[in-house]
Amino acid sequence: MRDINQFTITQAVKDTFKTEPGSRFETLLHGLIEHLHDYTREHNLTHEEWMGVLNFLYDCGQISTPERHEFILLSDVLGFSALVDMINTKGGATEGSNLGPFYLDNAPRKALGSDISDGRDGVTVLVHGRVMDTLKNPLPGAILDTWQADSAGTYPIQEQASGQDKFDLRAIFEADDQGRYYYTTVLPKPYTVPYDGPVGVLLRAGDRHAWRPAHLHYIVRHPGMNAITTEIFFENTEYVDNDAVFGVRKSLLAKIAPAKDIDALGYKLDKTPDAVCTYDFILAPAS
Ligand code: BEZ
Ligand code: FE
Repeated sequence: MRDINQFTITQAVKDTFKTEPGSRFETLLHGLIEHLHDYTREHNLTHEEWMGVLNFLYDCGQISTPERHEFILLSDVLGFSALVDMINTKGGATEGSNLGPFYLDNAPRKALGSDISDGRDGVTVLVHGRVMDTLKNPLPGAILDTWQADSAGTYPIQEQASGQDKFDLRAIFEADDQGRYYYTTVLPKPYTVPYDGPVGVLLRAGDRHAWRPAHLHYIVRHPGMNAITTEIFFENTEYVDNDAVFGVRKSLLAKIAPAKDIDALGYKLDKTPDAVCTYDFILAPAS
């Protein structure tokens, strides 16, 4: 009989899985076992510590619902979501950033120049720019799916109990023949990620806050190009240097400037903006 001890157990566990040699599944599974066993050995984990981990994961499962995925939030606050976004950003393309839990399929299609604030108060901002490929050629017909919080930092989907329409403050736009997109909306405010569950306990244990800087979410697509999921943040705004979920990249920062000389842009806008935010999206060819 083979003697299993704390140094041979890692190979013994890997051997029990009849995975296809050299497959991606085998590489990822073996890697996971190796790293977690190494971690356990390195830190001489006690029974109490390991049970603490397992109970924490149990609590994440208990609080999760179809609308609240605590494991994604855990991945976000530990920087795993950001790391996967960074690894998967294609050379030259706009950097990826959090999808977050508030995306909805089938947002209303709106014409360029529309106002998507749905009557919300706040600073009206013209958000505009171009969608281009990595050689700076415009991508006419690119699709931009956008969603955001209001000027109190709340997503309408969180306020359905008080009668808000979950499709407010979101829209799908099609870029024009020059790859341009433009619309007005209300400037969003920072908000906290949910911290009333186990992830909140973890944040408090590390003396961390739960705030995200104000941002606009986008999924941008064009046939033949890799779609990007990302966010635009605003320079010199609160929490932009310490986002609870590590979504901010320097390249995703836009300036908020006073709205002047915007007639020269030639846009037909439904609402007169107070401010302007300019941001170009770059898509890389599908690989
Ligand atoms: C968001 O940006 O919508 C978000 C991201 C991570 C956790 C919670 C919300
Ligand atoms: Fe968000």
